[in-house]
This record gives sequence, structure tokens and C-alpha cells, in this order.
Amino acid sequence: MNQRSTSGFLTASIFMLAMTPVAFCAELLSPQLRSLPQYRVPVDLVCQNDFLFVANSRTGSVSKIDMTSNQLQAEWKVAESLSGIAAWRKGLLLLDDHAHRLLWSIEEPGSSGLEPLLSLELPLYPVDVAVSADETSVAVSSLWSRTVTLFRGQQDGLQKERQLSLSFAPRTMLYLPDGKLIVADSFAGRLAIVDTAAGSVLKEHDVYGHNIRGLGLNHKHGKLLVACQTLDPATFTTYERVFWGVLMQNGLHSIPLDQLLSVSGDADDTAPEEAEYSGTSYASQQRYPLGTPSIGSGDPGAMVVTENDLTLIVISGVNQVAFRTASHMPFERLQTGKRPEAICLDSEQKKAFIANRFGDSVTVVSLEGKAPAVETTISLGEIRELTLAEQGEQTFYDASVSLDGWFSCHSCHTDGHTNGQRADTFGDEDRGAPKKVVSLRGVSDSGPWAWTGSKSSLDEQIKTSLIVSMQTQIPTEELPIERLSAYLKTLTPAPSLRLAKNKMPNGDVLAAARIGFEAAGCQNCHAGTGLTSNDTYDVGIHDEQGETLFNPPSLRGVSQRAPYFHDGRAATLAEVLKTSHHNSEMALSEKQIEQLQLLLESL
Ligand code: HEC
Ligand code: HEC
Repeated sequence: MNQRSTSGFLTASIFMLAMTPVAFCAELLSPQLRSLPQYRVPVDLVCQNDFLFVANSRTGSVSKIDMTSNQLQAEWKVAESLSGIAAWRKGLLLLDDHAHRLLWSIEEPGSSGLEPLLSLELPLYPVDVAVSADETSVAVSSLWSRTVTLFRGQQDGLQKERQLSLSFAPRTMLYLPDGKLIVADSFAGRLAIVDTAAGSVLKEHDVYGHNIRGLGLNHKHGKLLVACQTLDPATFTTYERVFWGVLMQNGLHSIPLDQLLSVSGDADDTAPEEAEYSGTSYASQQRYPLGTPSIGSGDPGAMVVTENDLTLIVISGVNQVAFRTASHMPFERLQTGKRPEAICLDSEQKKAFIANRFGDSVTVVSLEGKAPAVETTISLGEIRELTLAEQGEQTFYDASVSLDGWFSCHSCHTDGHTNGQRADTFGDEDRGAPKKVVSLRGVSDSGPWAWTGSKSSLDEQIKTSLIVSMQTQIPTEELPIERLSAYLKTLTPAPSLRLAKNKMPNGDVLAAARIGFEAAGCQNCHAGTGLTSNDTYDVGIHDEQGETLFNPPSLRGVSQRAPYFHDGRAATLAEVLKTSHHNSEMALSEKQIEQLQLLLESL
């Protein structure tokens, strides 16, 4: 299953960008402006000297906090929105995910200004920035364009060196001490190991899980720690199986670094019964479950490991941070603000700071006592009244909606998209036929809902999701359907792979491909702006329970949501087109396949 070679996905090119600094504006917000109620949604944070800097996504602002006094000192409006922050050469690297740029700015000594130094173009949808220990290498991951961009530090700034294509949509990254870079899948379970000196992907490999939102390095034991979730497609979504943590596991996996780096080719970290790598690869790899019955740990995320072997890992879905004082100790919990997603340490490792994405706050954890303890919570400012859709977004990411907090809607529909896995949620009213988790990007246009089209309204589907998929304990008359529905309606289809990669075919080529789409009869079932229809059809793919009729999925953003079909049987779009499903009588010609693939990658 995981024998894909990386070379096919790898395209490296060198960019020699002119070093002329492009100005951007860093506007210091006056205390009056700062005190207006806002919705900042902090997503990342970093310590620099005696200060903590927080990147606020929705306001595109940076908050500065004095780490000694825990006082908020300043806030600058830097961009429309921000997705990441890192410290580099006495300054800050910021990801502007609205203009798709990497910004570098330095605080002017003795003043409250944030001086813009450099603004560099990035592949579309930047989501994480990382800096190597010696600060010579900087990496940015870009989600929908599936790239990692490597920069090298020069005397007067940064130079874009390489742009690497990956087979998956990346997010979280971690530099190893030797300069190698680990890049994790944002949705499913792939890891890429990048040689930043050579500017190439050494290999990609799978972990037994998905939603990798935390990477850490245990120096003492030479292990890579991976926070992820594991959804079992063979488990029905019943009360007991959610209760015992059989359906969805939240885990901390640890992989010995020597094994991670030394195994040649594509290594595997699959379920024991599937593992073909005995002896040589991940024999000593451990999977530590973070939750126990009645103490769910939905959405484990970012982590830090201190030199003293203390591990802290945020459990985003249940508003907690878990810690263990040594690798062999069990985890204990502390309460944080709403949806903790990012964590960092001060340089002396005396404190940890946690950004609470939906709490507009930072939790300060003191590490100086026998065990970590919450010292205080710093508010980034007053929160304005939220819209119904914003309330729905918080519910979508809230694991306490599910039985005992085992998972949130996001655990399966990652960031409104899909984790690429299969789940037996009875959406199809039967057991034993797990279905691929549907992407909810563009969901308001994709009715009727569920693979079989059995739900004629979105609200009806959300109700089933709450009662069955989540095994929620919320009384039926109080189910948060209205706000979830308002949120889901804001989700637009994922940008096509070609759009994200800036490789859209020209108008004539697209027009010809559209004619090919019609000639092949595709629009009989994939019609209108949503490229779907209300009926169900037998296209030759039947499920384990004998169901033959399925509702055509919308083809908007289809290139971003492999694997395909209700059971995920086709790994690529080419496979969808090359198999005889859809039309058993007449196979498509090579030319038609090429043209249709181009079109599907552009929708
Ligand atoms: C355990 C994984 C899992 C969880 C948790 C989950 N879903 Fe789903 N969801 C699925 C699967 C699998 C399907 C497809 C089911 C089918 O068609 O049989 C689905 C389908 C849907 C659909 C229909 C989409 C379409 O276009 O047909 C919606 C809407 C949806 N889920 C919303 C939610 C919401 C809202 C939550 C949280 C309250 C949620 N889901 C939680 C796995 C999950
Ligand atoms: C007779 C109706 C029908 C026709 C004609 C048809 N499709 Fe489909 N298509 C479906 C159905 C139904 C599914 C879902 C099948 C399943 O998953 O069991 C589907 C699934 C797909 C998928 C996978 C989507 C996903 O998210 O998994 C793609 C891609 C696709 N069709 C493309 C095409 C193309 C290209 C053509 C023309 C060559 C075409 N279809 C013709 C009904 C049709």
C-alpha cells in the first residue's frame, strides 16, 4: 500500500530572488484600538528574549507580552490574516496567509515600532514556518499547493532556495538537530523527511493515524514524537465502542530517530497485523494512548519536550494540556483556555506558553515546581460578540460534544475537509460497510447528503452526525444544529490543485477539456455549478452490504480529496478514470483520460 516512490512527486527548482526588501506595514495599535472587542483567534506563538509574540489569525495582528510580568505590552496590525510565527535573527518571521508571503520584521531598539525588513512571495496557502537550530535554514509549508519552500539565511536576509512538491497537503514541521526537516500531513498520516542541505525529499512514510498536529523531539531517548489520531474503519460507531476508545484513538507515537532516518525507501508504521517491517524498521516504535475510558483526549496537538525529559502536549478538543515529568511516567492534565493549539518554551525552560485559539488568550504554565502548574492566563483583549457561524465553528472543533470528549467533528472532517479515512457511522443505515469521510468543503452545494443521498437536508445530516457519529450526550432538543449548519455553509470548496500550484491550463485547453467532459457523458450526473445531481446511480461500485446506488459527489475541489469513491478504493484521479467504473461498456481513451484529469485537477 505504501510503496509509492517519492521521486515522482519531487520537483525541485532554484529561485534566486532579488533581495530588495518589499515594505509591508506594521501598524502599532493605540491602547484605544487595542481595547475594542475583537476576535483575534491566536494560532501560533514564539519567545524572543524576554518577550512572547503571538500571531493572531483573524485580526492579522501580533501581540507582544512581557514574560516576566505576564503583561500585554503592544499589538501591531501586520496583515489581513496570519498563520504562523517564528523567531529568526533577533526578529520575527510571520506568515501572511492572505497575501501568501513570508514577512521578516525587527523591533526597533528603544521604540515600540516593528520595522518591516523583508516580504517574500510564497506558494499559495502557507500554514507553518520553522527555523533550524543554527538559523541557517528556514522552511515554510503550504497546504493546498502541497509544497515545502526552503530558504537559506544570507548576510542581509533570506534567500529562497528550493520548492519541493509533496504527495500530500503538509502542515506541521520540525527541524532535527542535524538540519533534516520532518514535514507532517495536515489531513491523513504521511510524514516526509527533507534533507535541507541537499534540498530534496529523502523519503515519505506513513504513520498509523491521521491529523498529525504535533511533532516533538525527545533528545534524551533519540525519538521523534508524533501526536495523531487513529480511526478504526472496522469499528461501528456505537456507545460502547466510543466509550472504550476503540473507534478513535488519540495517541502519542514515538519513532526512534535512527530507524526513521536509516530505513531506505518507503518505511511503514502500519497496524501490527499489517506491518511487513519486522526487525529492521519500527519494531520498537511505541503508540502511547492519551485517553482512557471517560477521559477522552480529542484532538491532541502541539507539544514541547524539555531537556529534563518533561513533555507537554496540548489536547485541543478538551481544553487541556497533558504533561509527564519523564518518558516513563503517565500523563496528567491541566486546564487551559478554549482550544489550545500552539505551545512554546522560554529559553530557560522555566515556563511554557499556550495559545488558546478560541479563547483569545495565552495560558502560562510554570515548570519550576515539582510538577507543571498553571501560573496565569493572559487575555489578548476583549472578545466581540460572535456570529452564529463563528459559534458553530467552535462547536465543530469541540470534542466535548462527543461522548466523553473522544473526538470532535474536526477529528474526521479535518478543518472542514476530510482526514481521508473510512468510518462506519451508519450514515448509510447499515453496519459493516465503512464509508470514506466526506470533505465538507462546499457541502452546502452537495445535497442530497451522505454517500447514498439518504439525507435531503443538511440539518438532518448534522443531527445524525451528532447523535450517531459523535454519540453526543447533549439532549436532542438542545442539539447545536443551527450553528453547525451556519458554520458548514461558510466552507467553500478546496482550491483545485492546479489553481493552488499556479498551474491552471489556459482557457482554450480548459474549454476543450469541458467539451470532452460532456462528450464522455460526465455531466449527465455531475451537472450544474456544483457538478453533482440529486439522483442516485449504480456506477458499478457496490458496498459490502449490497448497496448499489450512490449520489454523485460534487467535483468542485475534487483534486484535493483522494482517495476516491465511497470506500476510497481509487487512490488517484487517474485511477478513477482508468478503472471501468462509471461505464463498463466503453473505456476512455488515453487522450480522454489525460484531458479529463487536467479538468478535474482544475475544478
Ligand atoms: C467518526 C468520524 C466522523 C465524525 C466524528 C463526524 N463525521 Fe460527518 N461524516 C463521516 C462519514 C464517514 C460520512 C459519510 C457517511 C455516509 O455517507 O455514509 C460523514 C458525512 C457527513 C456529512 C454529509 C456530507 C455530504 O456531502 O454528504 C456531513 C454534513 C457531516 N458528516 C457533518 C458532520 C458534523 C457536523 C460532525 C460533528 C457534529 C461530524 N460530521 C462528525 C464521518 C464523521
Ligand atoms: C451515471 C452517473 C455518472 C456518470 C455518467 C459519471 N459519474 Fe462520476 N460518479 C457518479 C457516482 C454515483 C459517484 C460515486 C460513486 C461511489 O463512490 O460509489 C461518482 C464518483 C466520481 C468521482 C469520485 C469523487 C469522489 O469524491 O470520490 C469522480 C472523480 C468522478 N465521478 C468523475 C466522473 C467523470 C470524469 C465522469 C465522466 C467520464 C463521470 N464521473 C461520469 C456518477 C456518475
